Amino acid sequence: MTFPDHLVALVEAGLVLHAPHGEPGLSEAMRYPLEAGGKRLRPTLLLAVVDALGGRVADAVPAAVALEWVHTFSLVHDDLPALDDDALRRGRPTTHVRYGDDVAVLVGDALLNGAYGLVLHQLRCPASRRALVLGALVDGVSAMIAGQHRDVRPPAAPDEAWLKEMCARKTGALLRAAVAMAVALVGPAPSWEAAYLAVADELGVGFQIVDDVLDATGSDAVLGKPAGSDADHGKTTYVTVLGLARARALAAESAARASALVAALPGRPEALAAIVARVYTRDR
Ligand code: IPE
Ligand code: IPE
Ligand code: MG
Ligand code: MG
Ligand code: MG
Repeated sequence: MTFPDHLVALVEAGLVLHAPHGEPGLSEAMRYPLEAGGKRLRPTLLLAVVDALGGRVADAVPAAVALEWVHTFSLVHDDLPALDDDALRRGRPTTHVRYGDDVAVLVGDALLNGAYGLVLHQLRCPASRRALVLGALVDGVSAMIAGQHRDVRPPAAPDEAWLKEMCARKTGALLRAAVAMAVALVGPAPSWEAAYLAVADELGVGFQIVDDVLDATGSDAVLGKPAGSDADHGKTTYVTVLGLARARALAAESAARASALVAALPGRPEALAAIVARVYTRDR
């Protein structure tokens, strides 16, 4: 199982090709969090699914870039003092620390709207397919925002089912969007679509459980964001609610289920399999 570095390289090239331009101060501030790096998981996953389904990966790059813009918007707003109040992201001071809260709010707005523009104006495919890709992105954003609302307004005593639902939305939704956008672009048989979306849904929750574990066990230097932030800010996470041992056990169970789902996929899911494995073994 070889990690698809060539797909990450395609994403990076796409991000450069479609770099924000226009209103000078705003586009500079939009490039700041995008250029800081990040794992590029969601766009790489999108391209890996296009590849697995037999589609043309190069044609999907604008959709992948759009998804990374949406994800970056979610991070810029997530870090704001009114939400998680974090000062470090992707190894740099967060966008609001560098440019001010006011500009960071606008950066998020502009990345989100710009992402829709990328799909509408840059994605070369039949109009009916473009509408489906856009719909998958819009649905993912809606669910992500609903999940972030759960995150900032948790109940007094959240249980495991509530945590899973929050994570399925705030994090799982954009991973599901990666797969749903790829499916919309390529148009496989419905049974294939269901099998691929099932992987995304398992991976989405698993990704956030691992994120919560890393918050409690990692370092600023490796994570590129503030370790221990969840406990410091009284956040409701798998670790703060259920404890580290239970969170680790649930991550291992999710990894096993995800790997079984990937093994049963039709198509050519080799790159996808390597991405799924890395989500559960990563240290950042
Ligand atoms: C961080 O996502 C936000 C969560 C959903 C936990 P990533 O861990 O993928 O962040 P980057 O893109 O690598 O910075
Ligand atoms: C973030 O969850 C989810 C979204 C940004 C939608 P977290 O708040 O755990 O992400 P990090 O840890 O700040 O990256
Ligand atoms: Mg958060
Ligand atoms: Mg956060
Ligand atoms: Mg986190």
